[in-house]
Amino acid sequence: MDKKQEFFDFINAGNTFKGDFITIGAAMLEGETITDAHVKVPLQTLNRHGLIAGATGTGKTKTLQVLAENLSDKGIPVLLMDMKGDLSGIAKASPGHPKIDERHQKIGLPFEAKDFPVEILTLSEQNGVRLRATVSEFGPVLFSRIIDATAAQSGIISILFKYSDDKKLPLLDLKDFKKILQYATKEGKVEVEENYGRIGPSSAGSILRKIVELEQQGADIFFGEKSFETNDLTRVTEEGRGVINIVRLTDIQDKPGLFSTFMLSLLAEIYSTFPEQGDSDRPELVIFIDEAHLIFKEASKALHNQIESIVKLIRSKGVGLYFVTQNPTDVPEGVLSQLGLKVQHALRAFTAKDRKAIKLTAENYPDSPYYDTKTVLTSLGIGEALVSALDEKGRPTPLAATMLRAPMSRMDILTQKELDTINKNSELVEKYSEVVDRDSAYELLNKKIEKANETEAKEKAKAERKKTSSSSRSKKSSSKTTQSATTKALVKVLTSATVIRGVFGILGKMLK
Ligand SMILES: Nc1ncnc2c1ncn2[C@@H]1O[C@H](COP(=O)(O)OP(=O)(O)O)[C@@H](O)[C@H]1O
Ligand SMILES: [Mg+2]
Repeated sequence: MDKKQEFFDFINAGNTFKGDFITIGAAMLEGETITDAHVKVPLQTLNRHGLIAGATGTGKTKTLQVLAENLSDKGIPVLLMDMKGDLSGIAKASPGHPKIDERHQKIGLPFEAKDFPVEILTLSEQNGVRLRATVSEFGPVLFSRIIDATAAQSGIISILFKYSDDKKLPLLDLKDFKKILQYATKEGKVEVEENYGRIGPSSAGSILRKIVELEQQGADIFFGEKSFETNDLTRVTEEGRGVINIVRLTDIQDKPGLFSTFMLSLLAEIYSTFPEQGDSDRPELVIFIDEAHLIFKEASKALHNQIESIVKLIRSKGVGLYFVTQNPTDVPEGVLSQLGLKVQHALRAFTAKDRKAIKLTAENYPDSPYYDTKTVLTSLGIGEALVSALDEKGRPTPLAATMLRAPMSRMDILTQKELDTINKNSELVEKYSEVVDRDSAYELLNKKIEKANETEAKEKAKAERKKTSSSSRSKKSSSKTTQSATTKALVKVLTSATVIRGVFGILGKMLK
């Protein structure tokens, strides 16, 4: 048997699955694409996570696009973190190109141009579905993390969350948190200290300064209502196509701290709300993070550990996470070791450091009787990659230099007008743009303080008039009145709106 036929059989044998799969291209041998030697990924192992790596311009983002499209066609919803704003083209059909036809001829797949159901999400005030979360939902652990709190400061933050939980004071935005911090050091000092512990004024001052810094990074627009419900990410159209949710993050690139926080909170929320999946034959949601080095950049060891444990845990919820980045070493070792699908585009060998990285990368791939991995890594063309997936038994599929299929949708971005049309037709944009204006900690504490002041003034006047000495007793009973008035106001608030969700939520328990 000749070598080509032998290779063809080898690839086909390793890419035959019991269940459903997606086809991403055809295997190559010595630079030649072997038509119909299709490289596939079984749907069943898509929750085992993955990595798409390679130098700039080698085709990482297009590979992401190809994967997202094929998942959508299988009815699997997708979430894309679009750092550079270059993925919106998925909503429009590809105009086609002779080069694309040539590519598909070699692969042995018909090329079909089509558009995909897209929802645009945004963290800022850009047009799209507003992604927001309340401070309460963040919980004390994550909130401490974003402001990079010291141990002492974290202790205070936990007290404030506990206090607001006990007193049913919703913490919606940063204004609420600042108010409760102020309250606990002034009017409510005695009450808080008696029941929860001391709040040192200098630590409180530092926390306040850090929150102001966070506001200056633009984080305040991210906190508040209406908070995003993660089950809106798993929508499937009437025709059975998975919705591709694109989070446009172009304005967050220079704020890596904010981005990693947002990612972590989103993953934690998904983890706590999605049901356990057991042995499923397909994922519920697949998340791609383009330019993923941004989440790990400047992230502390503690944050790395948190991401690592979430990556591990979220699999059981049927969620697959795919990191797209230049160098595999951008991803922490603990995360890297958990990845099932690896798509490695070309690496360049300019410097000694590059060569070392290539050697390390090659070592992370299964051996192949057909390739010298190091050599292949530097000779891959654009839109070609070394691919290794997991079969249904969890074993790596044969390593294959792969000619990847082209995206069926447009490879460039949408115009503003096209984006506007998508947003106009979206149900979610309307749902989440609704301004919820309900009383939260800020208003409730203000009322409480006002009431206390009023009562005090009244008491004084009364005492003055009667000139009796029973002021201390009546003060006590009047503070009871204050209490019940406040309680009434609170009951109204809490019955008219959502109660605080997960204050000491999932994060506290799982992210030790
Ligand atoms: N699978 C593919 N099919 C067709 N063209 C591709 C493919 N992958 C990459 N290309 C071409 O290469 C260019 C760069 O790809 P891109 O994914 O943006 O690179 P990266 O994200 O690695 O910087 C694309 O604009 C496109 O012209
Ligand atoms: Mg890219």
